[in-house]
Amino acid sequence: MAKDYCVLGIESSCDETGVALVRVSGAALPDLLAHALYSQIEMHQAYGGVVPELASRDHIRRVLPLTQEVLAASGQSLADVDVVAFTRGPGLAGALLVGAGVACALGAALNKPVLGVHHLEGHLLSPFLSADPPEFPFVALLVSGGHSQLMQVTGVGQYHILGETIDDAAGEAFDKSAKLLGLGYPGGPALSKLAELGNPAAFKLPRPLLHSGDLDFSFAGLKTAVMVQAKKCAAAHGGAVEALPQAVLADLAASTQAAIVEVLVKKSLTALQQTGMARLVVAGGVGANRSLRAQLNAECAKRQVRVHYPELHLCTDNGAMIAMAAAMRLQSGQQTAHKLYTFDVKPRWPLDAILS
Ligand code: KG4
Ligand code: ZN
Repeated sequence: MAKDYCVLGIESSCDETGVALVRVSGAALPDLLAHALYSQIEMHQAYGGVVPELASRDHIRRVLPLTQEVLAASGQSLADVDVVAFTRGPGLAGALLVGAGVACALGAALNKPVLGVHHLEGHLLSPFLSADPPEFPFVALLVSGGHSQLMQVTGVGQYHILGETIDDAAGEAFDKSAKLLGLGYPGGPALSKLAELGNPAAFKLPRPLLHSGDLDFSFAGLKTAVMVQAKKCAAAHGGAVEALPQAVLADLAASTQAAIVEVLVKKSLTALQQTGMARLVVAGGVGANRSLRAQLNAECAKRQVRVHYPELHLCTDNGAMIAMAAAMRLQSGQQTAHKLYTFDVKPRWPLDAILS
């Protein structure tokens, strides 16, 4: 591989099509030259959630125009692309196949090698794209729509899972609770926005596994508690949950958010204590949550722990994190790109399956 090279990254695992170009110069942190994103949220909103077949078809429509946009924005051409990376999994099978197929076709047409990367590794390494990038080693709190994990990270590809959810992910807890409160899809951002208007102590909701002594999470019971509480409030007001006064809904949202955030903060602090590490990296969509950031910042400041986050717009799915993960894997020698152009996707793919 030439000393300086460009990696094009394509993300298509769920409801966002993302494309990005990073430049790798020696051992320095790769540079993001440009990225472009198309969110399908509006299309899926009518159905209250992601419709996989519609997602796949829309990725097909978006991926090449986004690639052109990225090349134009970075002042590069297809000939400048040295490696084509794509999300190999986990995610929706049909959606993943679009990114993998396009990446391999592009690679074959350009006679350039291709590389499939793990979506969660993309999230995990996304804070390296921020203005305040972390340094190894660190504890990582990876909280997305489908996953909640605490990890001890000592380098690229060196991930030791300390704890994870035994049922719903943190993002799922936000999304499902939001749905119960009639806040639609995607629920996390809507619930957290409404929570800012409410009282987090208004309702006493369970903090699952808060005192379990281990680093695992469980959020499935929380949504049931939210539902019971919401129905109680609705009965008291003589109507449906959706018809509750805004102030009550805001209190429910704030109390739900407080329960999720308290567990995430407490377990992260325990992980730091158990590993003796002084650096925390937060990644994944829930990492955009303002209350989570504020509480982690406050608690970590008390303990002289540095906290790093992805840029807000790179918390949820994007192509930049996929290009970055590919570039960092290539740099670290964890993986080589290939010119086979045969591909598979891995809709279910635990992160520890890629560990060296
Ligand atoms: O990482 P991500 O884009 O997708 C997966 O790989 O799963 O995360 C999406 C998740 C959704 O559950 C969404 O509701 C949640 O992140 N999310 C938030 C916020 N923004 C996105 N949850 C809480 N507060 C937010 N501000
Ligand atoms: Zn994601």
